[in-house]
Amino acid sequence: MSEKQLTAPDMLARKGGAKIAMLTAYDYPTGLLADAAGADAILVGDSVGMVCLGLPDTLGVTMADMLHHTRATARAVKHALLVADMPFLSYQGSVAEAVANAGRFLQEAGARAVKVEGGAEFLPQITAMLDAGIPVMGHIGLTPQQVARFGGFKAQGKTARAAQKLVGDARALADAGCFGIVLEAVPDEVAARITAELAIPTIGIGAGPRCDGQVLVQHDVLGLCPGIKPKFVKQYADLWTPAKEALAAYCAEVRSGVFPAEAHTRHMSPEELAEFAARRDA
Ligand code: KIV
Repeated sequence: MSEKQLTAPDMLARKGGAKIAMLTAYDYPTGLLADAAGADAILVGDSVGMVCLGLPDTLGVTMADMLHHTRATARAVKHALLVADMPFLSYQGSVAEAVANAGRFLQEAGARAVKVEGGAEFLPQITAMLDAGIPVMGHIGLTPQQVARFGGFKAQGKTARAAQKLVGDARALADAGCFGIVLEAVPDEVAARITAELAIPTIGIGAGPRCDGQVLVQHDVLGLCPGIKPKFVKQYADLWTPAKEALAAYCAEVRSGVFPAEAHTRHMSPEELAEFAARRDA
C-alpha cells in the first residue's frame, strides 16, 4: 500500500492498467476497514440512507446526512481516494447551488471528489463543478435517485435505444472531464462498449467483468444487512450471524450475572478504599 493518498488523477491513470477496487463506507469503522483492506477508492454513498438510516431508498438522504457521514469516514481514510455522493436535490437545481454543495464536501468534510448521478442532462452542473476544481465521478444506468421515475430499482439500457443513450451519456461525461463513471445495472455488452470507447475508467456495479473497476456496498460484501441481496452482489462473509450471536451472548451474560467478571472489574487500592470509607463516615 502506498504512503500517499490516491487522487482523482491517479484513478484516471489506472485506465487500462490494474483494475480499480472501490467500496462504500459510511463512518469511522467502515472507513478504517475499507482503507485497511486496500480499496483504491472509497465512496460515501447515499446508499447510507438504506444501509445505515433504515430508509426505503436514497431520496430522503440530505446534504446534512452526507456531510456528517463523509466527515466521519474522512477521519479514517488515509490511502484511498475519498468520494462523496451528491444526494437527491443537491445538484439537480441551479448550477450555483450544485457547485456550492459539491464544494462543501471538499471544504468541510474531507472528500477529494464527488459523484453525481445522471447523464448529459446535468452537464452544466458537472462542468461548473469541474471548473471550480472539484473532481467529479459520473454515475449512469440504474441511478437510484430516479427510482420514482423508473418505478423501482430496475436494470437499465436493456433496449438498443436505451443502450445507445447510455453510450451517449458516458461520452458526454468523459468529454466534460469526469475522472471516472459508475455503470450500475447495465448489460455486460453495453458496459464493455463504453469501457472500450472511453479514455476514463468505468466502475461497474452489476455491469459485468469488463469494466475498469468494480464497486460494492461494504455491508453487502460483509453480509451485515440481512434481507434483500441483488443478483450482482457477491457476499464474501456472513458477519450478521456471528455479530448477532455475540450480542445475544452478551445479553444472556448480563442477565445471568456472568458479565462483568473479575477480569472486567476495577477495585480501589487499599488507600482509596480507606479514604472512601473515611469520607462515608464523615
Ligand atoms: O450510493 C451508493 O452506494 C452508490 C454505489 C452503489 C455506486 O452509488
